[in-house]
Amino acid sequence: MVASDLSDPPAVTVAGLREILAANGVEPLAPPPPRDPAKWELGRALFFDPVLGGNRDVSCATCHHPDTATADGRARAVGTLSYVDGDRRLPVGFRLVEVAEGEKVLTGFKRGGAPHGFTPRNSPDLFNRGDPAWTTMFWDSRAHRKEDGGFAVNAMRIAKSPGLYQVVMPPQVENLLAAQAMMPVLSDDEMRGAKGETGITGETNEVGQILGQNEEEIWAALMDRLLGIPGYRDLFVKAYPETPVDSLHFAHAANAIAAFEIDAFTLLDSPFDRFLAGDDAALGETERQGAELFYTKARCAACHSGKLFTDQLAHNIGIIPIGPGPDPVEIVDFGIAHRSNAGLDQKYAFRTPPLRNVALTAPYMHNGAYTTLEAAVLHHLNPERSLDQYDASQLEPEFRGAVHDEELVRRDVKRTLSKTLRPLPRLDDREIDLLLAFLHSLTAPSASRLGHLEPESVPSGLGLIGPEPRQP
Ligand code: HEC
Ligand code: HEC
Repeated sequence: MVASDLSDPPAVTVAGLREILAANGVEPLAPPPPRDPAKWELGRALFFDPVLGGNRDVSCATCHHPDTATADGRARAVGTLSYVDGDRRLPVGFRLVEVAEGEKVLTGFKRGGAPHGFTPRNSPDLFNRGDPAWTTMFWDSRAHRKEDGGFAVNAMRIAKSPGLYQVVMPPQVENLLAAQAMMPVLSDDEMRGAKGETGITGETNEVGQILGQNEEEIWAALMDRLLGIPGYRDLFVKAYPETPVDSLHFAHAANAIAAFEIDAFTLLDSPFDRFLAGDDAALGETERQGAELFYTKARCAACHSGKLFTDQLAHNIGIIPIGPGPDPVEIVDFGIAHRSNAGLDQKYAFRTPPLRNVALTAPYMHNGAYTTLEAAVLHHLNPERSLDQYDASQLEPEFRGAVHDEELVRRDVKRTLSKTLRPLPRLDDREIDLLLAFLHSLTAPSASRLGHLEPESVPSGLGLIGPEPRQP
């Protein structure tokens, strides 16, 4: 389209936008509660310490690092037993191969006796997850509040009576974010490792020895490990002076991690949040026009709704599957249909992601299918065509061969495409630019300045492991 064909959308006044936001129930986020310094110190140490990994080689920060906007910049996350190849981390035992398949040469990774693969999904950011409006965590909403006020996480049992079950959180777990923090340490590929493995320190992985479904035993083994380290004993006693050391549960560790995450990653200084807080000058004309499109013609708020920019419901928007799902029975990732037992009409549906600081957290979607924000937005405007014409060359080479572009899979994805996507909005180039300008106004300047959060050292004495190899 020629630029002169485009007439600028009508001006949007400050009052006009305030009206739109009110009509859409968009309120300011809750400020974080006052900091409890002892709990914060403990939580920070645990967040950065690879000692929480069974093999002592992976921390929360490996996949959610402050320098990469609390994500890792990878399409799909890499957990325990990884090695550094040039500029990135790869699972031990994987090597790049080219496989000829008919006319096509696929570049992919071959698993040659690799103990752990790539994890199936993209590491989400951790911004503003402490707001009380959150009711679910994970791309498939498998961590959730129960009706009685407690928390539970859906899981799959592989050995013994296989099937779906719930990990019901112990009563000490204080909030949803703490319930989430109980989970990565249970996952073999993310943090726990497996039987018979030794990590970089050569010590036995006592946590990996335990059968995966014995969650309480795994948590107890980790607490034994932590309380055996004098630095942690001190930090726990300071954070929980009322609780005898032998009554400490891993839930106390998770509560401290959550307290740290809420304090460190609740950021309210984006232009949009300043506008919500009453600063009329925080958004310019362009951003206001973009916002108006987001809430009206572009229909984005049909799903990215409310103060969190998500309805916390799952929708299949037609993202091409890349690799297998989280459970061995899933050749492709069925999203909420699998772990959350949501029914086959919810196949390939994933929880609507929130959008604050989205400009900083490429690649996008549950599997990192798109590397630019523009591509992520454009996908929504014609999901079927984007699915059919997906270009795998935008992926890091290790994921290109894992793209499920088989016609059978694509047809299956289209079958359960969300009806909420329709009618598909028709937007011209100028309108897309305005939408992108609005999405950029969700970026908090402080999100690029989080380096100060990383401690110099951690109580285990282990080296810190970020998503990227450190420059010497
Ligand atoms: C190997 C990389 C890796 C490690 C280590 C890891 N995470 Fe994650 N995290 C992920 C991935 C991938 C997801 C999404 C998984 C899914 O939805 O199925 C996730 C999801 C989350 C979420 C949910 C966010 C949302 O919006 O739903 C939170 C919170 C989180 N992680 C915090 C943590 C904490 C705390 C730790 C340490 C105890 C941790 N993570 C360790 C990769 C990792
Ligand atoms: C039908 C519900 C729905 C509508 C309408 C919708 N989205 Fe989405 N959006 C989603 C879901 C679900 C995902 C994640 C899909 C996945 O990973 O499989 C997503 C992903 C995104 C992402 C990537 C975020 C990330 O962190 O990976 C962006 C950016 C985005 N949407 C922006 C928009 C914009 C802008 C509009 C309006 C033009 C819009 N969305 C309309 C449901 C929707």
